[in-house]
Amino acid sequence: MTPEKITRPQFPKNFIWGVATSSFQIEGAHDADGKGPSVWDSFCEINGKIADGSNGHVACEHYLRWQEDVDLIAGLGVNAYRFSISWPRVQPDGQGDWNEAGFAFYDRLINALKAKGIEVHLTLNHWDLPQALQDQGGWAKREVCEHFTRYATEVARRFGSRLDSICTHNEPWVIAILGYEQGIFAPGIKSRAQAMAAVHHLLLSHGMALQAMRGLGLKTAMGIVLNLSPIYPASDDPKDIAKAKLDDGLILRHYMDALMLGSYPADVIAHLGTDAPPVVSGDMATIAQPLDFVGVNYYTRNFSSSGNPWDVASTGNLVTDMGWEVYPQGLTELLCRLHQDYQPRLLLVTENGAAFKDQLVDGVVNDTARLDYVRDHIAATHAALQQGVPVGAYFAWSLMDNFEWASGYAKRFGLVHVDFETQKRTLKYSALWYQKFLSEK
Ligand code: FCB
Repeated sequence: MTPEKITRPQFPKNFIWGVATSSFQIEGAHDADGKGPSVWDSFCEINGKIADGSNGHVACEHYLRWQEDVDLIAGLGVNAYRFSISWPRVQPDGQGDWNEAGFAFYDRLINALKAKGIEVHLTLNHWDLPQALQDQGGWAKREVCEHFTRYATEVARRFGSRLDSICTHNEPWVIAILGYEQGIFAPGIKSRAQAMAAVHHLLLSHGMALQAMRGLGLKTAMGIVLNLSPIYPASDDPKDIAKAKLDDGLILRHYMDALMLGSYPADVIAHLGTDAPPVVSGDMATIAQPLDFVGVNYYTRNFSSSGNPWDVASTGNLVTDMGWEVYPQGLTELLCRLHQDYQPRLLLVTENGAAFKDQLVDGVVNDTARLDYVRDHIAATHAALQQGVPVGAYFAWSLMDNFEWASGYAKRFGLVHVDFETQKRTLKYSALWYQKFLSEK
């Protein structure tokens, strides 16, 4: 099947087609109606942390424009929407009173989506931890697990029966490693020991939340979303090969082994030495709750080098505005490998997309590179299905241009263009292509 020939009817009838966003990246209204500050509100205030010096105060003004955005989503013809709840919007300090105005916003949003026949795929933690919990150590402290479980249970109690899936955490690797080890994302800490504690508490709180939410008797599918990529050695130098194996351990096996097998990989634990995660007896069994799905966010493949210089341009493939190589085969390979090594019940492609330097000219955005990217990755998803991998969904990242974390507003991932001066939304060619693809009978 050449990617150009991919059509919707080649997929199973019940395949989930969606677009994805997250609270901090689109909502704005950073202090409206009782919302508390999140770690990303604080991080944006530190000079030099966000490339364009921006913040999430306004973003896409989705908090005000949610009705227009629901229409936009429905207009694309998708049957599902993935978004996240801002924890500090519904519980300003992460452990005290609930903020009814915050819950009312999500209640309206969920009802509007359901009224249009759009499935609701909800993420509890897409990175905007209440700052008040960060003041107590954030994900590096074990106490956060109890607070997260209470928050998750309250969301599930209120909304669970209307949700098609609940994801506990989005990309624990990014939260822990970029946030607590490299310090380039919120909360901006540079400590490998804290990062490994954060990983462990993210995974532990995931397991605790799943147990508690399932205790409510809900039928809602529950799982977690990971950022995963196939990792290749940059050369056939044995040192690069060893580095690729270790990196695969640190980025993929550490999470998949814990979640699916109930143990951390021995080579990774040995490598971490005194920075290894603070595991208490019983934790690994709690982490390894049965999962209804594993969400996969895939953007590119990775190369590992032990020091040999490596340049993304050397692959000869197109590179996006993020500097990420376009490599659709990597998605097929990754889905097949996860199926082979771990047999999860269901895999969902929960994010996939690309940033390019878009131009809005005469009301048109001719983003053929993104169109090709999305089409080729949909074809790559289909290739995995044909090899017997249980893949149930494809969510494009993102519905619309938004706040791309430390890159600010300069990196545009949307199928829909956003003019951040006027908040006008314009469907790019990629959105028009997706709309047409979805309309095929
Ligand atoms: C992922 C994030 C998402 C978005 C994309 C480009 O790591 O989950 O919020 O920023 O990258």
